[in-house]
Amino acid sequence: MSRPQQITVLGATGSIGLSTLDVIARHPERYQVFALSGFTRLNELLALCVRHTPRFAVVPEAGAARALQDDLSAAGLSTRVLVGEEGLCQVAADPEVDAVMAAIVGAAGLRPTLAAVEAGKKILLANKEALVMSGALFMQAVRKSGSVLLPIDSEHNAIFQCMPQDFARGLGAVGVRRILLTASGGPFRQTPLAELAHVSPEQACAHPNWSMGRKISVDSASMMNKGLELIEACWLFDAKPSQVEVVIHPQSVIHSLVDYIDGSVLAQLGNPDMRTPIANALAWPERIDSGVPPLDLFAVARLDFQAPDEERFPCLRLARQAAEAGNSAPAMLNAANEVAVAAFLDGRVRYPEIASIIEETLNLEPVVAVKDLEAVFAADAKARVLAEQWLSRHGR
Ligand SMILES: NC(=O)c1ccc[n+]([C@@H]2O[C@H](COP(=O)([O-])OP(=O)(O)OC[C@H]3O[C@@H](n4cnc5c(N)ncnc54)[C@H](OP(=O)(O)O)[C@@H]3O)[C@@H](O)[C@H]2O)c1
Repeated sequence: MSRPQQITVLGATGSIGLSTLDVIARHPERYQVFALSGFTRLNELLALCVRHTPRFAVVPEAGAARALQDDLSAAGLSTRVLVGEEGLCQVAADPEVDAVMAAIVGAAGLRPTLAAVEAGKKILLANKEALVMSGALFMQAVRKSGSVLLPIDSEHNAIFQCMPQDFARGLGAVGVRRILLTASGGPFRQTPLAELAHVSPEQACAHPNWSMGRKISVDSASMMNKGLELIEACWLFDAKPSQVEVVIHPQSVIHSLVDYIDGSVLAQLGNPDMRTPIANALAWPERIDSGVPPLDLFAVARLDFQAPDEERFPCLRLARQAAEAGNSAPAMLNAANEVAVAAFLDGRVRYPEIASIIEETLNLEPVVAVKDLEAVFAADAKARVLAEQWLSRHGR
């Protein structure tokens, strides 16, 4: 029998990380945890190490590493603790690793994910921000290394499942007219516009269908998440922004659709549980049990659709503009959004100001070409400075 596949889970303490470990634990004969990483939830990381006995654990700094190493030794584990981005890149690229779950949130995930790509690993991509920031360079690296890139976002995983296998020939060549990217519309889909200035971070994080980390929950409320996904879809499926239409579907049962020129529209349906796309990508091209209960269509009863309202969701408009501008614009959009969302979660800005911060940041800086990773990080850094300046100017 072949050995179990060795899996590195970057961002193991987060929502996607935990769902990944749940699926892996159901199939010990197929998968073994090679490395886990955490950032602030280090007690949880210790508990995960005890449960999954990885070869390596990665934490952000040396003090935390010493403390975790002592706790692991006391628990009788031989797990070695590594530190920082270097440690993340090492466990992403280790020759023994077969697949890497890229589930760190935000720009912090870019270098380790790219390290896994450059080492030719199978990439399970949850960290959409990495692709948004550096799409052209990222896809170039995928082609160069021959890495297999599998989307974890439920929408992109659905699109992947509905595409013909040879979609890399180009959407036109395989008869695809449009990608229909579904969105739940989040917790504020029907909130009166005047009330949006008073919504709290807790309300923004209370997603009606999905349980997720706080940053992506706010992105879902503002529909910036859908905007980032639009950019992600363009890179993954070589589509133009105009070929990706966003459709609000409040039940989150259809995870996205592909519209073919003969009038066929293929959709992937399922309960809103990230273990389905995770299991799909882990086992691809095979299928394995994910622990997700079967979809009960009689309980769902109806599926609704509506067009997104740009007045309610200005972040979606800003993301589409950044997708069309390309070059440095998506990295700046992503960075300004990260600063704005963190300030909203800290109670320093009101919810509608998230879009204002991003729009003003993008308006202040011309779009420039990004030829290498340094240029991507320069655009990211510039946008963070401008967004922070917005906060100081407004006394936050
Ligand atoms: N949750 C979903 O349903 C879902 C669906 C589709 C795509 N995604 C994408 O998947 C990614 C993860 O989302 P999530 O919901 O799992 O987020 P989350 O629950 O907030 O988890 C984020 C993970 O990243 C780690 N982390 C945070 N900042 C870091 C840094 N600066 N350096 C290294 N590690 C860091 C966290 O560590 P600590 O927890 O220890 O601080 C945690 O392990 C995001 O890119 C998101 O857009 C999520």
